[in-house]
Amino acid sequence: MRVRSRLRSGVVAATCLALLGAGCAADTPQNTLDPEGPFARSVDNLIQPVFWIAAVVFVFVEGLIVYAVLKFRRKGEDDRPEQIHGSTRFELAWTIAPALILVFVGVITVGKIFYLDRQFKDSMQVEVIGHQWWWEYNYKDAGGKTVVAAANELHIPVGRKVQLNLTSADVIHNYWPPKLAGKVYAIPGRRNHMTIQADKADFYYGECAEYCGLSHANMRLRVVAEEPATFDRWMKANSTTQTAPSFPIVAAADQATATEEEKGHTLFLQKGCSGCHAVNGVAAGAVGPNLTYFNSRATFAGAIFLNDDDNLRAWLRDPPAEKPGSLMPKLNLAEGEITSLIAYLRMLGDPALRGAPIPAGLAAGPPQP
Ligand code: CUA
Repeated sequence: MRVRSRLRSGVVAATCLALLGAGCAADTPQNTLDPEGPFARSVDNLIQPVFWIAAVVFVFVEGLIVYAVLKFRRKGEDDRPEQIHGSTRFELAWTIAPALILVFVGVITVGKIFYLDRQFKDSMQVEVIGHQWWWEYNYKDAGGKTVVAAANELHIPVGRKVQLNLTSADVIHNYWPPKLAGKVYAIPGRRNHMTIQADKADFYYGECAEYCGLSHANMRLRVVAEEPATFDRWMKANSTTQTAPSFPIVAAADQATATEEEKGHTLFLQKGCSGCHAVNGVAAGAVGPNLTYFNSRATFAGAIFLNDDDNLRAWLRDPPAEKPGSLMPKLNLAEGEITSLIAYLRMLGDPALRGAPIPAGLAAGPPQP
């Protein structure tokens, strides 16, 4: 019995160690201990000293406990510990030393809180709105007017401070791009802010970090940091001032001669898509993401699917089956209608603006059980 329970403890310990080890892989895309921007680094510069202070305190205290257990263990039936009463020297030491350590940790922590809360005048302003279950980004000009309306993928220029002003359209969400910053809540009726800045052109992955309903785990995000020239190109190409391709409504009699794009445009207006999605110059829906530049995004549906035809087809066939709880309903579209809709969506935006290809295993579908 004893052997078996030891064996079981051994297996549990080995499993825990393996899991711990798995979390330590060097090149993980959401490693908060591998910061790639000044604000994330500032958080890391707090984590490191506090961790090492805690490690030293742990080793010291545990060492004393082990020492006391071995040194003062009972040596015989009649062994009684020496009865002493207090020690002013020791009591002063173990009161003052921890107090000094805590004051030090407190001072550097409070300094960091104020630093991270600063709003920089020269930073770019982006409004971030959490939705069940996707992120809306509205890039503002100096006058506060939205000049670009994007979703899930946040494009930013390398080396520039970007202030994200966070709020929510429904429940509480939490914005967390670990390599660029800590977490900040997106709360309905409130405006919180965080500043991010990326060191180099790269994809930075993140996710919603507050349980917000059925597809909380499918509420991911990507920050695409680009060289300033590439970023400017993206901003111009995604401007809210341009309108999307539009066609006359295809009548039933013209179905045979109309193109897939024309039929897709008509279906977009007639099947309810336009009630929720905006397409500049075509529709003004404000429930789901603005799709004017849908094709210039590498992912869709909370950044969980790669933007390819197969994923899009599966999504249009039955959104709640692909993303549990999806507010986009199943529209019972025929396969031919889906083909037309995809053809139209492919006209919206430029795939050359998607950025570098996404590494395998990331944003390739919802997590498998
Ligand atoms: Cu949004 Cu969890």
